[in-house]
Amino acid sequence: MKKKSFLFRNIGEVLTMAGAFEKQSRKIQEADLGFEKKQSMLVEDGRIVWIGPDKKTPKIKVQKEINLMGRTLLPGFVECHTHTLFSGHRADELEMKNKGLGYLDIAAAGGGIVSTVRKTRAASAKDLLQQTQKKVDRFVQQGVTTLEVKSGYALDLKNEMKSLEVIGQLSGPQIVPTFLGAHAIPPDAKNQEQYLKFLEQQVIPQIKKRNLSKRLDIFIESGFFSFDAAKKYLLAGKKMGFDIVIHADQITLNGGTKLACEIGAISCDHVLQVMDPEIQALAKSETTAVLLPSADFYLQCAFPKARKMIDAGVRVALATDYNPGSSPTQDLSFVGILARLEMKMSLPEVISAYTVGAAFALGLQNEVGALIAGHRADFLVLEKEWRELFYRVGEIMPLEIYRSGQIL
Ligand code: NIG
Ligand code: FE
Repeated sequence: MKKKSFLFRNIGEVLTMAGAFEKQSRKIQEADLGFEKKQSMLVEDGRIVWIGPDKKTPKIKVQKEINLMGRTLLPGFVECHTHTLFSGHRADELEMKNKGLGYLDIAAAGGGIVSTVRKTRAASAKDLLQQTQKKVDRFVQQGVTTLEVKSGYALDLKNEMKSLEVIGQLSGPQIVPTFLGAHAIPPDAKNQEQYLKFLEQQVIPQIKKRNLSKRLDIFIESGFFSFDAAKKYLLAGKKMGFDIVIHADQITLNGGTKLACEIGAISCDHVLQVMDPEIQALAKSETTAVLLPSADFYLQCAFPKARKMIDAGVRVALATDYNPGSSPTQDLSFVGILARLEMKMSLPEVISAYTVGAAFALGLQNEVGALIAGHRADFLVLEKEWRELFYRVGEIMPLEIYRSGQIL
């Protein structure tokens, strides 16, 4: 069959992220952004086959030429940690927080994750799909072309399957589903050991058989899952071929990051409480540290030690952690601004964390996150300069969003 080929010409400025890709998103400097002027880009069947100076455009026949009118291009954003699938809201928890209750107190009082579980179990697949698609569309408007979505607000066989099925029906960006059955111990379970055994023996095999997710996540925290129980569960999942993700060291330092490095987790998320030994272990590992500063903002706790991590050579990614409790915002600009102001990350570091770094967190680094030959043509067209990214809270920058060379 004939290949579909497009030539995007008259690109005023582009961030290819070529250097960031080569450095695997570690210790990023401005030069790693691959800033170039007057470029064009050749796309075949949704993939970049060539990108370079306008004047050197290969002289081949294409089906369509698209004039980008001198605008700025950058890779589509990769949003690598969200709990977008849920029903209801927990706005009342803000009031509880102001009365002095902490995240773990609210959870112990029957609020928190388990209260969203009740609502998510009760929602029909049709309603969930409709509600969740709207939230996905809101991510797309901000330039997200790859979106991770976790299950984990159902915590029983029937409804976790329902959740993953709904996630599989979402459209727009590339959706990466993650199984987070181990988000909390449901009230109907005897204890964590019994519940994790149930997930391992009855739920995960079905997920694998039906190819609903290739990623296994767990929340290691006091009152949730312990280091030892999690280790056993994750090693069993790894044996079955799953990529491992850990919600680690968010509220207390409990060994989650250490475990992530030890068992080769693909990412290790939150990592708020980590100290020097964990930072050293992360720097030596292939595990990406996913930083979620909007959750830290809402929980009013400290922010992760991003400077220390990055300077030590840790690869970091940024994400919204969008969920109804600890981070009820989908605003990527807010996340980037918190990273800059509260964690002292430079703008190039933030951009890399939201493209190449986040692609690594999903194992998609050879597919998305950079505009280089071989990668998918997932990109954003901006009217403004790249230096205005992650500057104004709530701002939507992209004028146009392309996935696989086609307008989204
Ligand atoms: O990443 N930490 C655990 N899970 C979510 C919070 C989910 C919730 O509160 O509903 C998080 O912050
Ligand atoms: Fe989370």
